Amino acid sequence: MGNLYSKIFITGASSGIGRQLALDYAREGAELWLLARSELKLAELSREIQTLGGQAHILVCDATDEPSFLTALATAQEESTGFDLVIANAGWGGRMQYPGDKNIEVLNQVIDLNFRAATQTLEYYAKFMVMAKQGHLVGVSSIAGFRGAPGGAAYSATKAALISYLESLRFSVSPFGVFVTDIRPGFVRTPMTAKNVVPMPFLMDVERASQKIRRAISRKRKRFAFPWQMAVLLHLIKAAPDFLYDWVAALTFGKEAVTGRLGKSDSNTPT
Ligand SMILES: NC(=O)c1ccc[n+]([C@@H]2O[C@H](COP(=O)([O-])OP(=O)(O)OC[C@H]3O[C@@H](n4cnc5c(N)ncnc54)[C@H](OP(=O)(O)O)[C@@H]3O)[C@@H](O)[C@H]2O)c1
Repeated sequence: MGNLYSKIFITGASSGIGRQLALDYAREGAELWLLARSELKLAELSREIQTLGGQAHILVCDATDEPSFLTALATAQEESTGFDLVIANAGWGGRMQYPGDKNIEVLNQVIDLNFRAATQTLEYYAKFMVMAKQGHLVGVSSIAGFRGAPGGAAYSATKAALISYLESLRFSVSPFGVFVTDIRPGFVRTPMTAKNVVPMPFLMDVERASQKIRRAISRKRKRFAFPWQMAVLLHLIKAAPDFLYDWVAALTFGKEAVTGRLGKSDSNTPT
């Protein structure tokens, strides 16, 4: 896969999908700006990229802390003098438990990261790309945005909102030559899914996921759901009547999940 992009900004680059994308784009010769909270992990990634002959700039920042996040976005814009690819990837599963004391806290954190920070990233760089009449904006949503998934009310809702946002954004920026891609992964083996206690059909390695995501981006796909088996299943489920969806959800996630007793509420602390 030849690289079409020379300057790339990625949020949530310290682990999982974001990390793999950073490594693979570095191998293809791109200069990278990488944001996450974990300084240690970003520094280690930056060293790895340097040994590959690449160049990485790290931005240690909590994307839900709006003033410092907007400052980090501005710093990256200034240093790079403009990105040709921006990937809003940072996200958190935010499992909720019923009854639970932490659900409002989890809900706020998930909204702030998965929707507010993702859309702020894209909106911030959309302005410069529209003025430059070039660029590519990518949001990492999820197949969980297709319908409400058990145990993940906040997660599903924010991913559904992000899907809608990306589609609308595309209408607004495409007349200026700016592309928008909505990446909707199924289950990918990352630290996020390592915590999952539910079955994960068609679980994919992160290397393969990165390859598929980069191919979809280079082909300027408007949306890309993968793996295809999961995408087909979910398109069918989207149109299915509630009784059928409830049955499939119970079958897939187990009885505990659909009765709200799936483990404890999660917490999103950097490691
Ligand atoms: N893995 C899957 O099966 C799957 C499926 C569908 C969609 N997705 C989506 O893919 C994206 C990446 O997920 P992943 O599986 O790679 O998860 P991951 O390994 O847990 O990585 C999440 C990344 O987000 C960063 N992050 C978390 N909270 C942050 C905050 N407040 N501020 C800044 N960065 C923050 C984390 O870094 P720090 O902790 O260092 O901040 C990390 O780099 C997410 O949007 C996720 O919803 C994943």
